[in-house]
Amino acid sequence: MTNTSAPKLRSRAWFDNPENVDMTSLYLERYLNFGLSLEELRSGKPIIGIAQTGSDLSPCNRHHLVLAERIREGIREAGGIALEFPVHPIQETGKRPTAGLDRNLAYLGLVEALYGYPLDGVVLTTGCDKTTPACLMAAATVNLPAIALSVGPMLNGWHKGERTGSGTIVWKGRQLLAAGEIDDEGFIKLVASSAPSTGYCNTMGTASTMNSLAEALGMMLPGSAAIPAPYRDRQESAYHTGKRIVEMVHEDLKPSDVMTLDAFRNAIVVNSAIGGSTNAPIHLAALARHIGVDLPLKEWERLGHQVPLLVNLQPAGEYLGEDYYRAGGVPAVVGQLIAQGLIREDAMTVNGRTIGDNCRDATIEDERVIKPFDQPIVEEAGFLVLSGNLFDAAIMKTSVISEEFRQRYLSNPADPDAFEGPAIVFDGPEDYHHRIDDPSLGITSRTLLFMRGAGPIGYPGAAEVVNMRPPAYLITEGVSALPCVGDGRQSGTSGSPSILNASPEAAAMGGLALLETGDRVRIDLRKRTVDVLISGEELASRRAALEAKGGYPYPASQTPWQEIQRALVGQMDTGAILEGSEKYQRIAQTKGLPRDNH
Ligand code: FES
Ligand code: MG
Repeated sequence: MTNTSAPKLRSRAWFDNPENVDMTSLYLERYLNFGLSLEELRSGKPIIGIAQTGSDLSPCNRHHLVLAERIREGIREAGGIALEFPVHPIQETGKRPTAGLDRNLAYLGLVEALYGYPLDGVVLTTGCDKTTPACLMAAATVNLPAIALSVGPMLNGWHKGERTGSGTIVWKGRQLLAAGEIDDEGFIKLVASSAPSTGYCNTMGTASTMNSLAEALGMMLPGSAAIPAPYRDRQESAYHTGKRIVEMVHEDLKPSDVMTLDAFRNAIVVNSAIGGSTNAPIHLAALARHIGVDLPLKEWERLGHQVPLLVNLQPAGEYLGEDYYRAGGVPAVVGQLIAQGLIREDAMTVNGRTIGDNCRDATIEDERVIKPFDQPIVEEAGFLVLSGNLFDAAIMKTSVISEEFRQRYLSNPADPDAFEGPAIVFDGPEDYHHRIDDPSLGITSRTLLFMRGAGPIGYPGAAEVVNMRPPAYLITEGVSALPCVGDGRQSGTSGSPSILNASPEAAAMGGLALLETGDRVRIDLRKRTVDVLISGEELASRRAALEAKGGYPYPASQTPWQEIQRALVGQMDTGAILEGSEKYQRIAQTKGLPRDNH
């Protein structure tokens, strides 16, 4: 809750410390370099960081370079001083081997910046998939007053009169290309049409998901997550975000006051209703551990599975980011959920009001895009949490299971929620791309595709490679998706009915390491199990044989960070954080100030 007697600003220890004038002078003299006056720096005004995630390497977030000017004006207007600084770039589609490798690196860097410099509060500029969790995780660890500003989605993409959604169109384009319906140039044009402006993916991929959830967690001004990047309203929300963080510093309203267990539970419910990405459980688990909230993976099924899908955005639905904003965005969705008693209304948010007060009266402005609760797009839109002898935990988004898929796999009246088939096992995406169209594999519409070596250690960094298209000859026959299972992730923009984030991964000697092509695997959605149908003895002897060879093989590290992360990273069911880093909590309060540097 909000404190009325705020503590002394921590930045005073740098700029206004009468007990150590020579250090104060040293701190002051260099911060004067970019034009601030002595008077300003010693005024006792809150110093607000703008954690800048935009750059030429991060085009999804690049508009934050423009928005930062409006954030600054808001900060100044409210009586603060703004200091902008860069965050390590994490761009989803540009970073090799995967942006998943860098979330924890950006987290580490931002923790050091927030803790080690004279900052009293921070604006987190969020956007592309991993930038949002990385920023929130760091703010959670340091626990300075913090507010997130979404850069917003791109404008809608269009091609021949139809909406083309970023990411999602790639999966469709690949199928058209494989079926010979378009050529290479047509493919590139189709995909480029989906990205018509600055901003992040306009589909309900991981970026829209994580920004919506940042708002649902209470860390963003209400109604601001979904504003498209180029809209006038986006500039306005930047200004209000800047103003608000200064007030938050005076009120001492911190991430730990906002990101409570209730807030996480709300976020899980909202994730189902928006059709959020399968990456969300990983990032929320990480965030919860850094703020000290206990959030077992099973909570996603317990709280989220029953919740219907209300937001009609690609990949699960038809529309895109502009439509989502115009239909009312997150508050309209939360309003529907509040009316059903599904939201913990007392959860505090960064505007100093509860989520209940912010969203109770929010209305849907376009029911084609956001459905009323009693007319959902899909019932039970949340995730199932599965386990068995191939892994301890994995998740499945059941809302994207198509009718074609249900008919093919889940229509046996004697066994309606289960199916069995032979496994084809791929060791990494190169192996898959190389062999998927090879007719000698004998892939049929009953085959289950497995991807391994794609987890936090194996890849390294947990890549979005589990969603695999069927061989071209099956697509031509009308089979657009096969069940896919793996220890990597899946792009939030993909609508494949996959079993993902399997933990422990093959590289950590999880059961997937022991699977062989041709093994029969049974998936039972009602029992929440995935099992290879071979004996425990056979599995044990395969394990012993693999261990004798040194374990499941994966490529050598190519950079120092790959090696460091591999040594420390946990599995995806518990957030894939750097194990041990969660010991450091609320360090702005619990660790005092860092020592002087001279
Ligand atoms: Fe950056 Fe989708 S690739 S938001
Ligand atoms: Mg992605």
